[in-house]
Amino acid sequence: MGSTADVVVVGAGVIGLSVAWRCAQRGLTVTVVDPQPGSGASWTAAGMLAPVTELHYEGRSLLALNQDSAARYPGFVAELADLVGLDVGYARCGTVQAAWDAADLAALRDLHAFQAALGVESRMLTARELREAEPGLAAGLPGGLWAADDHQIDNRLLHGALARAVAVAGVREIRARVGGWLVDGDRVTGVRTGDGQAVRAGTTVLAAGAWSATIGTLPAGALPPVRPVKGQTLRLRGPAGLLAHVVRGAVRGNPVYLVPRGDGSLVVGASSEEAGFDLSPRAGAVYELLRDAQLLVPALGEVRFEEVSTSVRPGSPDNLPMIGASALDGLIVATGHYRNGILLAPLTADAVADLATGRPPDTDLAACDPRRFTRSEVEV
Ligand code: GLY
Repeated sequence: MGSTADVVVVGAGVIGLSVAWRCAQRGLTVTVVDPQPGSGASWTAAGMLAPVTELHYEGRSLLALNQDSAARYPGFVAELADLVGLDVGYARCGTVQAAWDAADLAALRDLHAFQAALGVESRMLTARELREAEPGLAAGLPGGLWAADDHQIDNRLLHGALARAVAVAGVREIRARVGGWLVDGDRVTGVRTGDGQAVRAGTTVLAAGAWSATIGTLPAGALPPVRPVKGQTLRLRGPAGLLAHVVRGAVRGNPVYLVPRGDGSLVVGASSEEAGFDLSPRAGAVYELLRDAQLLVPALGEVRFEEVSTSVRPGSPDNLPMIGASALDGLIVATGHYRNGILLAPLTADAVADLATGRPPDTDLAACDPRRFTRSEVEV
């Protein structure tokens, strides 16, 4: 029992489907294998497209990737809308980062100076400007930072639109777990599903998020060293217009964000825990998110609680993704996107489609070479 394609993609989250779509657009035959498409981080994510407010001091290479992918988003979304006619909630709404206290404001000032030194657009807000931007914020917050280029997309609608796009593009979908790899010498030649189907392909793309390192066995160093970083998000529904922008804060040092959707729902995120593949919601994390979100936006106490969602981000040892050729011919890796998977989907998809068609990617991927970890082990 078996089939053949030019490309087989392991994983049908937002990354896997974006890759499949772009590859199919290049005329390649594509099969995607996933037991439950879009049920992982693509479902739990809040959909922030945040190159600026996800920037940390060690993150210059990541910033360049994030900005590059953010610039691809308008075209990516427009093409999807043309093809499948579905709204994906792409909102160029900007992000307000509220300071909790004077120490937090000082930290935001330092971050702003770092951003300015890198040429990143952001602006400090006085207490008054903060309240004018978001009247729903608690009284007495000392100021904040405005990131005009940090936007959002509804990741669940995006996944649905991508699923439709790949179907229109003729991508074959197999709903099964991948049980192992087909290997011929030093070359990966496809995958074997848990129920025994062989899918042979010239190019195999590993896009299984945090699960990417757990699939079958390959020679040492070929599987990417991703680790699961548990995150919980909450879905609330309140009066429409409660917030106009994405709002972030660090309440007594605890990060929290609130993402208002066009349909009146509100995503609150996100916890971050090293808890393996434990996907059970943790009461303390829900409590802390609600407590901190309500301290920032007091009216949240009155809104409807709809959902808690838990998944695992694909963390990488240096917080950079792994996009590119692996140690084995025929295997391309597209994972390790950690906190920026939704944002990095357009860039990842274009790069993998380039590699699968033998073209050099139109962006510098040196920092995300999947082989960087094994190479440094050898050099040490
Ligand atoms: N991108 C936000 C998060 O991972 O929580």
